Amino acid sequence: MIETQDLTRRYGDTVVVDGVSLRLPARSFVSIIGANGAGKSSLLSMVSRLLPASAGRAFVDGLDVAATPGDVLARRLGILRQENGIAARVTIRDLVAFGRYPHAKGRLTAADRAHVADALAFLDLEPLADRFLDEVSGGQRQRAHIAMVLAQDTDCILLDEPLNNLDMRHAAGMMGLLRRAVDERGRTIVAVLHDINFASCYSDRIVAMRDGKVVAVGPPEEIVTEAVLREVYGIEVEVVLVRGYRTVFFYR
Ligand SMILES: Nc1ncnc2c1ncn2[C@@H]1O[C@H](COP(=O)(O)OP(=O)(O)OP(=O)(O)O)[C@@H](O)[C@H]1O
Ligand SMILES: [Mg+2]
Repeated sequence: MIETQDLTRRYGDTVVVDGVSLRLPARSFVSIIGANGAGKSSLLSMVSRLLPASAGRAFVDGLDVAATPGDVLARRLGILRQENGIAARVTIRDLVAFGRYPHAKGRLTAADRAHVADALAFLDLEPLADRFLDEVSGGQRQRAHIAMVLAQDTDCILLDEPLNNLDMRHAAGMMGLLRRAVDERGRTIVAVLHDINFASCYSDRIVAMRDGKVVAVGPPEEIVTEAVLREVYGIEVEVVLVRGYRTVFFYR
């Protein structure tokens, strides 16, 4: 389970995450939506300890992240950042193997190698495994970074815009894979998504943010509505039920 209590981040006088209190249950798929600059990445960064909070606290499986050693936290929580600054002269296989570091501490066991092989296979990366990151496409690089996070094999997985650069097939495949990780392996997944229709089809609940605050939390039936989307994004859309899923349409 992931919990935040009044979590806040300021830069100078500007508050970018403003007293966010959330309880995200274990074994669920939670999407975070909101406009550019709403504070989504800052929130995930604080939960994963990449960014210190200005105030408030975050807990992962009851552990206060500010007081938990990095290696202990890294065995429970993995994060895909929105931007990945990993050096280009690393092969995809080595990048994915980095995901095992919190477990292996540099010396991979047979079990670690099996996790790496699994993650490469899951993400269609076997044919590319020995290529360097600067020798593959943007979407292939994105899949490699997600494979690294999955190889870490943590109960909680935070993904900041996992669908970036993915084509339609790989985006749909990714959402299906994440859904199965929740349903079959009991993971807790929190993903920042800009595609509301994917959020609508695959999430157990959606957290909608605006100006650093959570303006609504609930199942897709409550969040994917014309009124909430108007409040969150300030635009008019039409929401239609398609095969039981609330689907957003825009009109020119
Ligand atoms: N280092 C920083 N110094 C000052 N302001 C910052 C810093 N990092 C982020 N911000 C500001 O904090 C706000 C929230 O940024 P954040 O990256 O959390 O937004 P986001 O919801 O993830 O947006 P996007 O959808 O564009 O990724 C933005 O207004 C941003 O300009
Ligand atoms: Mg962001």
